[in-house]
Amino acid sequence: MEYGCKNKVVVITGGTSGIGLAAARAFWLDGAIVSIVGRDSTKGMKALARIAGSKDPEAAVFPGLPEGADTFSAAEGLAGEGSGARDSSVPGTEEELARLRYIRADVTKPADCRMAAAIAAYYGKDRIDILVNSAGMYQEKRIENVSVADYNRIMDVNVKGTLLMIQACQPYMLPRGETETGAAGETGNAAQETGSPAEETAVADSAGSGRAQDRCIINIASDAGIGGNYGCPVYCASKGAVVSLTKALALDLAPDIRVNCICPGDVDTPLLTAQLAAAEGGYTKEEMGEGYPLGRIAAAEEVAHVICSVASPANSFMTGAAVPVDGGLTALG
Ligand SMILES: NC(=O)c1ccc[n+]([C@@H]2O[C@H](COP(=O)([O-])OP(=O)(O)OC[C@H]3O[C@@H](n4cnc5c(N)ncnc54)[C@H](OP(=O)(O)O)[C@@H]3O)[C@@H](O)[C@H]2O)c1
Repeated sequence: MEYGCKNKVVVITGGTSGIGLAAARAFWLDGAIVSIVGRDSTKGMKALARIAGSKDPEAAVFPGLPEGADTFSAAEGLAGEGSGARDSSVPGTEEELARLRYIRADVTKPADCRMAAAIAAYYGKDRIDILVNSAGMYQEKRIENVSVADYNRIMDVNVKGTLLMIQACQPYMLPRGETETGAAGETGNAAQETGSPAEETAVADSAGSGRAQDRCIINIASDAGIGGNYGCPVYCASKGAVVSLTKALALDLAPDIRVNCICPGDVDTPLLTAQLAAAEGGYTKEEMGEGYPLGRIAAAEEVAHVICSVASPANSFMTGAAVPVDGGLTALG
């Protein structure tokens, strides 16, 4: 599927799993320069392998990397020149694999967010075009059982993490005199002077309308942030906050940056698997699906497709929207 995101510099928090990982693969296949952000480097290696199309991503090892590396590209592990690590099931060229990077960061920590944004921008020729905030967590607990620690943990990741990543990335997303007919202007930044791996590939859009290049932020909220849900009041509150944050920032950041959010219903990801495990057999995936007009829950790729469509530069007049991707659930009222 083509979304027009070739050479766009994309940062995806939560890109090591589930919806974020599926979005990373869709953007990468479209030719974007993609950085995925998560807390666990080992998970990051396996995620890069999965995104790159390895037949055995769980076996991915990056033997040449220094212990505890904060960032590495798929080329460093999967192309494996000289290290013997080449995963022969990965189809991409070294150049294609170099467009795919992992950055270790905890989105609840401001310094981590600033570092992640700086690294992604460095490998993206000093800019970020698209930020997808998919890092998130779920917890099922009725109000009478919710502790202050539960509240803080969920709000920290789902709301504060989203806000901190936007704050960190925004300076790299602001226009610097470029238009759709021309590449970014000089900023005097060291990364630009020294040149980064994306330098040769970063090209301008060609629509020629004279508008600033399209930049956008996409937050992953939830249907639970629009309509509420049983047994997870803090999660619902956190996702409601993400919807409100999206709308407020769509106003504050216009016309430079479009800000939208996606509101998925249940999606078959590790988060949902953990939810089912926590419910200890109380309900199944199939039973969850029965509540949907479409009769099933979503695959992560179906949500990823909407993320990429909303991010597409062809979608340049959409901002402040909360887009349900929920098999008709919110249409039930
Ligand atoms: N699955 C669903 O049914 C569903 C429905 C509606 C909305 N959503 C929302 O969609 C988003 C993605 O969910 P998912 O189902 O794809 O979940 P997932 O498979 O569990 O992935 C969650 C991702 O968040 C990252 N993450 C969590 N805490 C983090 C932190 N403090 N710092 C950095 N990264 C962090 C994890 O990476 P590391 O572990 O590597 O740090 C992981 O990559 C979430 O916001 C979720 O609330 C999901």
